[in-house]
Amino acid sequence: MALMPRKKRCKDVAVTSVYDGSLDGNSTVGKKVKFGDVGVFLVERRMGSSRRRFLTELAWKKGFRVEEQMSDLVTHVVAENNTGNEVLELLEKQNGICRAGFDAVLVDIAWFTESMGAERPLEVENRHRLQEALKVLAESAELSESEGRYLAFSRASSILKSLPYTVTKMEDLQGIPNLGVHSRKVIKEILEDGTCSEVGNILQNERYHTLKRFASVFGVGVKTADKWFREGLRTVDELRASNGKLTKQQEAGLLYHNDLCVPVTRAEADWIKHIVERAVRRFLPDAIITLTGGFRRGKECGHDVDLLITHPDEGKEEGIIYQVVNWMTTKGLILYDDIMGNTSKGKSKEPEIFDHFEKCFSIFKLEKELVNNLGAETLSLCDPLAGNQTRGGGLTAATETSHQVTVVATGDKAWKAVRVDLVVAPFSQYAYALLGWTGSRLFERDLRRYAKHVKNMSLSSHSLFDNEQNIYLPATTEEEIFAHFGLEYIPPQERNA
Ligand code: CTP
Ligand code: MN
Ligand code: MN
Repeated sequence: MALMPRKKRCKDVAVTSVYDGSLDGNSTVGKKVKFGDVGVFLVERRMGSSRRRFLTELAWKKGFRVEEQMSDLVTHVVAENNTGNEVLELLEKQNGICRAGFDAVLVDIAWFTESMGAERPLEVENRHRLQEALKVLAESAELSESEGRYLAFSRASSILKSLPYTVTKMEDLQGIPNLGVHSRKVIKEILEDGTCSEVGNILQNERYHTLKRFASVFGVGVKTADKWFREGLRTVDELRASNGKLTKQQEAGLLYHNDLCVPVTRAEADWIKHIVERAVRRFLPDAIITLTGGFRRGKECGHDVDLLITHPDEGKEEGIIYQVVNWMTTKGLILYDDIMGNTSKGKSKEPEIFDHFEKCFSIFKLEKELVNNLGAETLSLCDPLAGNQTRGGGLTAATETSHQVTVVATGDKAWKAVRVDLVVAPFSQYAYALLGWTGSRLFERDLRRYAKHVKNMSLSSHSLFDNEQNIYLPATTEEEIFAHFGLEYIPPQERNA
């Protein structure tokens, strides 16, 4: 904390954020923010720039925080005379933010004007603000490496998300399990005062913002982020300019940082899956490639693409990752790769955090213009892996087919860097690998906990061990795994929380 600016160290200053006057000169510079956990973004289209400036000024005067750009600090997107779809489309285009990855609520200008009149953010959005507050607390706990608090707040946040009604009073939470004392206290404070001091304090904490920024760089963990913060570094640009030692992964993370911050769309993920499928089948025609991670759970966008590779003849899959990655690299399709060989020393009874599969954390080079239509007859035309390649590498496609998808890349370059995780599982472990790599992280943790404490079993991405019978329980499908637990099958779409 020694490097924090003096002003921010003073506990008695109730400033969570200060308007820098960037939208309209500096008439409101220094205005105090009263509702730190609410971030407003005004959509300019149809509103017009002068009205937007006027409303921005008004909001700051009333103690609201207004964000100039769409970012994860935004909780309320305010539009005037636009349909919800229009706004989403617009934001998608401008910011590469797509539907499912988009956490802020869309509100009509009526919410805005009524809130200005009431001089506080109106109640309608309580559900959202509660979720947001708990998410900030979870993130802050994660950055302090407080696993228990992270889990408690994450669970509370997803519980609120899953409630079919909006919480307006504490009684609405009666009988809901897994809501800790701390989470309840936060919810109570927000319901009563419209804001929570603990969340407000986090949002004005420079360490929180800086660690979040650094930990978003590929290859950077909390410990490293914290070390850089203590060394006085604050921004990614400062990090680039500093001569500190970086791992190869971090170097790549910095080099492609802007692109990697842009969400990967479903269409891009499908395309990458297709490309990998073609590459793998060059070497193993009967290989099976499955899209896992958030996309398998039905998300419309994600931070990366997760692919699981297997082969019905167990053993054939060994070493495939080297062949595929080497070959794709020579074709100019891969910008960075970090291959890990199989590290298993036989099956382990203790579930471990990391699995032992052959895998590759990589960065692909995706051409801006690509097509969604993967019809067989167009493959020879559009497949970069097919025969005579005329382009200079990268994943691209011909443009004459129906569904055109535009890759949202940063800058004016013709390609976008995309994070891809490739995992290779032996066929007999495939179902467990699929379950393990589909996530979500929270779901996996809860399932493993359930296995251990309720069933006395050890679940990993490799296997399920029954500690009572002292045997491994084989499974060829996820359904069979849930059956081993005596649970009804939970489809991927329901594993988000
Ligand atoms: N996973 C894992 N081992 C890792 C990384 C990830 O087992 N070293 C699993 C986790 O269970 C996680 C899933 O793979 O739930 C997907 O991880 P990740 O890509 O980080 O998250 P997603 O849920 O796919 O979310 P996003 O859309 O942001 O990528
Ligand atoms: Mn993912
Ligand atoms: Mn991943």
